[in-house]
Amino acid sequence: MRKESKHKILILGASGFLGGAIYKELCSYFRTFGTYNISNAVFEKNKHFFQYNIEEDDIYEILDIVKPTIIISALRGNFSKQVLIHQHLAEYVFTNKIKLLYLSSANVFDAYIKYPSYEQDKTYSNSIYGHFKIKIENMLLRLPKKQIAILRLPMVFGSQSPRVQEIIQYIKDKEPIEVFPNLIMNVTTDSKITQQIHYIINRNKFGIFHLGSNDLVHHDDFIKEIVNAFPFEEKAIYKRVYTTNDDRYLAVLPKFNKLPKHLQLYSQDIISELKI
Ligand SMILES: NC(=O)c1ccc[n+]([C@@H]2O[C@H](COP(=O)([O-])OP(=O)(O)OC[C@H]3O[C@@H](n4cnc5c(N)ncnc54)[C@H](OP(=O)(O)O)[C@@H]3O)[C@@H](O)[C@H]2O)c1
Repeated sequence: MRKESKHKILILGASGFLGGAIYKELCSYFRTFGTYNISNAVFEKNKHFFQYNIEEDDIYEILDIVKPTIIISALRGNFSKQVLIHQHLAEYVFTNKIKLLYLSSANVFDAYIKYPSYEQDKTYSNSIYGHFKIKIENMLLRLPKKQIAILRLPMVFGSQSPRVQEIIQYIKDKEPIEVFPNLIMNVTTDSKITQQIHYIINRNKFGIFHLGSNDLVHHDDFIKEIVNAFPFEEKAIYKRVYTTNDDRYLAVLPKFNKLPKHLQLYSQDIISELKI
């Protein structure tokens, strides 16, 4: 019954950390399909999953089979190939009058180090990653505005996140955990992002979303709070990395395109979730 929704959703990168979490959130409510890259017996048996490599495969073949009404792009991989496939996706979205949700990053603002950034600020980056995200964003922002949602994410934590898993591993291996004392950022979790995406789909929201916590944290303090959320026998070792002399912001704060209160978060919510 619940699956009789009008939407058919295709998640590019559904085998990844965020794509996988989004797939799990949506698959009971919508006809949901996904792509994976590295061969995997579980996905091969699942008729809702398609093997897709941006270096070799044509995305149109999968689009023709699935005929999605919503595409969610949660891919990684070669930057110039990603630009190319998003060009193809933009054409498909335009021609078929469907919608695209794109997972972007706070790095589209990484050249503004003195302030946090809001939805309508002009993007500006010093990094290759930030430049490439801006290039895709700009291409998508030329499409009719109701057909696009750009979701700018800060660093994503959560118990299953690669970032938290890596911290746990470093402590077990007695290796130092890198912290950036000058970095002021906001943060989020996979569980909040998936709820936010579900809402954006249900309510047909569009535009640019800044999906970071309402508060800012220093990177080193936040990482230490994460470590303290777990009952480790071993003591954590930290390596302080200073990339600039002054404080540097990497934060995407919501201001103009806000989601309802229950879909907003504070950094402490992440720590509380880890303690459960
Ligand atoms: N995680 C964060 O903290 C964070 C923060 C800001 C923005 N984002 C953005 O969110 C998106 C998803 O990130 P994630 O952390 O979930 O990444 P991830 O766990 O590395 O997942 C990436 C996905 O892309 C697929 N992929 C990788 N190389 C590919 C290729 N050559 N061809 C086709 N598919 C390929 C992977 O498939 P296989 O696993 O099968 O290789 C996987 O499904 C990215 O666009 C990222 O920029 C993430």
